[in-house]
Parts: sequence; C-alpha cells; structure tokens
Amino acid sequence: MKHCFLNRNNQQPTTIRKIVVIGSGRVAWHLGKRLKARGLPVAQVVSRTAEHARALAGVLGARWTDDASEVLPDAGWLLIAVRDDAIAEVAAALAPHAPGALATHTSGATPGMVLQPFFKRHGVFYPLQSFSLEHSPVWSKIPFCVDASSDEDALFLEKMAGRIGKLVYRVDDAQRSILHVAAVFANNFANHCFAVADKLLAEKDLPFEMLHPLMEETLAKALLDAPARMQTGPALRGDAATVKRHLELLKNHPGWRELYAKMTRSINPDLPF
Ligand SMILES: NC(=O)c1ccc[n+]([C@@H]2O[C@H](COP(=O)([O-])OP(=O)(O)OC[C@H]3O[C@@H](n4cnc5c(N)ncnc54)[C@H](OP(=O)(O)O)[C@@H]3O)[C@@H](O)[C@H]2O)c1
Repeated sequence: MKHCFLNRNNQQPTTIRKIVVIGSGRVAWHLGKRLKARGLPVAQVVSRTAEHARALAGVLGARWTDDASEVLPDAGWLLIAVRDDAIAEVAAALAPHAPGALATHTSGATPGMVLQPFFKRHGVFYPLQSFSLEHSPVWSKIPFCVDASSDEDALFLEKMAGRIGKLVYRVDDAQRSILHVAAVFANNFANHCFAVADKLLAEKDLPFEMLHPLMEETLAKALLDAPARMQTGPALRGDAATVKRHLELLKNHPGWRELYAKMTRSINPDLPF
C-alpha cells in the first residue's frame, strides 16, 4: 500500500465538475447517495434499464438516461458501476460523447487498463466492502482503493474518497488483483465455512447460534495479531488421530471432506494422512 489518508476533509477544496453515475445497481445506489449526501455534484445517472436509471436519479435529484450517447458532454467524472464484464462495452459506448472526462470503474477484480482504449483519463475507485441494498454501509470503515492514469487524477480520486469515507489507499492493478483474491478468502470462503458448519449442526439438531461466540472470538483474535499466530485446532497441533476421526465423520459429504483435508494440509503440511 502506498498511502493511507485518515481524513482529507481539511484539505484544500477541489473544483469538482459534474459527476455522472453509470449503472444503477448496489454500488451505484450506495455511492451515488453518499456522494450526494456529502454535497458532491451528482448530475446524471446513465443506466441501460430506464426504470432503474429513473429510480436512482429520482433519489439523487439528478437527470437520467438509458442511452449512453446522452451522457452529459461536460461530465467531469464518470463513475462506472456496472457488472465487471460489461465495463469495457459501457466505456466504449460513453467515450465518444464525453471524451474529456475521467472514467473510473469500481471493480476489485478488473484492471484499470480496461478503460485505457476508450478514455485518456482513466482510473479505479474501488470500495473494498460487500454492498447490498438492504444494509447501509458504514462509510468510515470502508477502505477506498484508488488509482488513475495521472497523479493529478489519482489525487482527485483520493480527495473524493476522503470526502465520502476515511480510509483511502493508492493501490495499483497488481496490488488490487491480489487484494481481491485475499478478500475472497477472508469473506467468501470464510462465510462458506460458516455455512458448512451450520449445515453440519442442523443434521444433529444443534443450533448454529452455539458457534456464535467461537466465531466472534476467532474474528476478534484475527484482528488483534497475525491470523497465522492465532491458529488453533487439531491440524496445527498435529493431532492426526482427531483429524482421521473428523474425516471419517465427513464420509457422507465428500466435498466437505476434501475441503477439510485441504484446509488441514494448508495449516499443517506435515500431518500424515
Ligand atoms: N456489490 C458489491 O459488494 C461490490 C463491492 C465493490 C465493488 N463492486 C463492483 O461494482 C460494480 C457493480 O457491482 P454491483 O454489485 O453494483 O452490481 P449490480 O447490483 O448487479 O448492478 C449491476 C449494474 O450493471 C448494469 N449492467 C449489467 N450488465 C450490463 C451491460 N451489459 N450493459 C450495461 N449495464 C449493465 C446493471 O443494469 P440493470 O440495472 O439494467 O440490470 C446494473 O445497473 C462491479 O464492477 C463490482 O465488481 C461491487
């Protein structure tokens, strides 16, 4: 990580030209509303489904269109928040109509370079959090990972992130791609393990709530120190007999058995089984 700015609100004000939100899904809703709430000039929503574009624009008090060629020609910042594999196609449709704008996407898994063929000024504005429509994000706890094709634009994005959040990092493509893999381990895979645990308990009529204190303790400890130092359990202890018994108990769930064995080997490659 190159920089972390804890609060940039006290910095010199930046002149901000019109912001156009592209897309009207989870990230577009949350970022759009937050930008607006922080007094930033969200001028238009461009999204392929008219009904969705209109709904978000209504909340933001902005103009809307479902036609990329109607993007405001004097847009300053195009915040592209569409599905990862649609970013290039959407950028291609927008570029001829707002060629001077800074175009950024919000994807952790997509290189910033995907915008380069279409926009001279391009970058990434990636909020490292899981967004859903049901939950309001805690903005002060979201790391914003920004990058841009010029230092000036990167600085602008850092300032914008500092206006809507607190944790701002300059992260290049190589760093962000690994960050995304790490996030899959820390969030998606960890959650999948919770789901497996829940199903195993349900088979024996035990409530998942019994594991809540253990889950809370695990997270609290992982936040305190290097998680590898906080590891406990039969794999780390080298308790081969217990591991063998667990594998036997999982014989009716070959997928979970394999997962258990792979996790165990990852924790302790020396275990003989
Ligand atoms: N959700 C998260 O937790 C999260 C967190 C960080 C970053 N991100 C990134 O943010 C971006 C948006 O994610 P999201 O969760 O907001 O997605 P989403 O809720 O599924 O919304 C996707 C948006 O993309 C539009 N779209 C899909 N395919 C399109 C196409 N072919 N052409 C034009 N528009 C298209 C959709 O239009 P319609 O309304 O017409 O369907 C919708 O407005 C992605 O790059 C994602 O990786 C997501």
